[in-house]
Amino acid sequence: MPPLWSRAGDRAAAAQPAGQSVPERPAGPPSEAPVGSRRVAAGFFDRFPEFYDTSETSSFPWRLNLRHDAIFAEHADLFSGARVLDIASHDGRWSMAALDAGAAFVLGVEARPELVDRADATLRRYGVDEARFRFVAGDVFEVLAHEEPQVDVVLCLGFLYHTLRHNELFTRIRRTGATHLLLDTEIHRGAEPVVRLADEHVARQGNAVADAFSYGDTVLTGRPTLAALDLLARTQGFDVERLSDWDGLLRDNPEADQVRDYRIGRRATLRLRRA
Ligand SMILES: C[S@@+](CC[C@H](N)C(=O)[O-])C[C@H]1O[C@@H](n2cnc3c(N)ncnc32)[C@H](O)[C@@H]1O
Repeated sequence: MPPLWSRAGDRAAAAQPAGQSVPERPAGPPSEAPVGSRRVAAGFFDRFPEFYDTSETSSFPWRLNLRHDAIFAEHADLFSGARVLDIASHDGRWSMAALDAGAAFVLGVEARPELVDRADATLRRYGVDEARFRFVAGDVFEVLAHEEPQVDVVLCLGFLYHTLRHNELFTRIRRTGATHLLLDTEIHRGAEPVVRLADEHVARQGNAVADAFSYGDTVLTGRPTLAALDLLARTQGFDVERLSDWDGLLRDNPEADQVRDYRIGRRATLRLRRA
């Protein structure tokens, strides 16, 4: 059986002579949802608008609300009563979404302490029961190694491409015992299982933080192709179950801005399950 993400775009990319551009369309198969059914009429963050102001990192309304649909509305079955780990929990936006979706408890891990404080304050202001969440300030690799939390669902949203330590990350995720992993990440376009290297500066709020393996103010990071992600996941006992339907979301919300990376297939949302 061809891999789940196999589609015209990637086959074309594979057949493309070197140096020619890859067709630009959302990652994943074409939408099978009826036209109009993926319209996002009332955005999740319109109910919690503080999140439009608590971050400098891609807190644009359309982007946040379509991401909410792709990450939570499409996978609503995962959250009722679940213990959730939110990796790189930032200002708490997705921890809030997980709790609203019915999670029993969320542990958020975020390297930048000021973001942890903001997450804590925002959830309290929105009246979330304090017994249902905990935000820890620290490097995710260190915190997970030290605390070894046990959860049902892991959220790894906007983080995988801020590190090159992918195998270590998947090991830590596996050891949480989670049955499902929701991954939202930038990807490198192409059919081969490769990881494209980049460096990023630690000064930006949304970027990597310096760690034991970085030097100076930059961190070496890597964007895997979907094929590389599949391999990474399989070698750690996870299967890619499906990709979220960005094709349908973008078709039915044509005025959405700040989502070009999803539109051209440079970013995707994946649901993985323990094999
Ligand atoms: C692009 S933002 C993603 C925020 C949010 N999860 C989302 O998807 O909208 C990346 C986040 O990862 C955090 N981060 C970077 N390196 C980290 C590390 N080693 N451990 C924990 N958090 C880290 C950053 O501080 C930042 O908040």
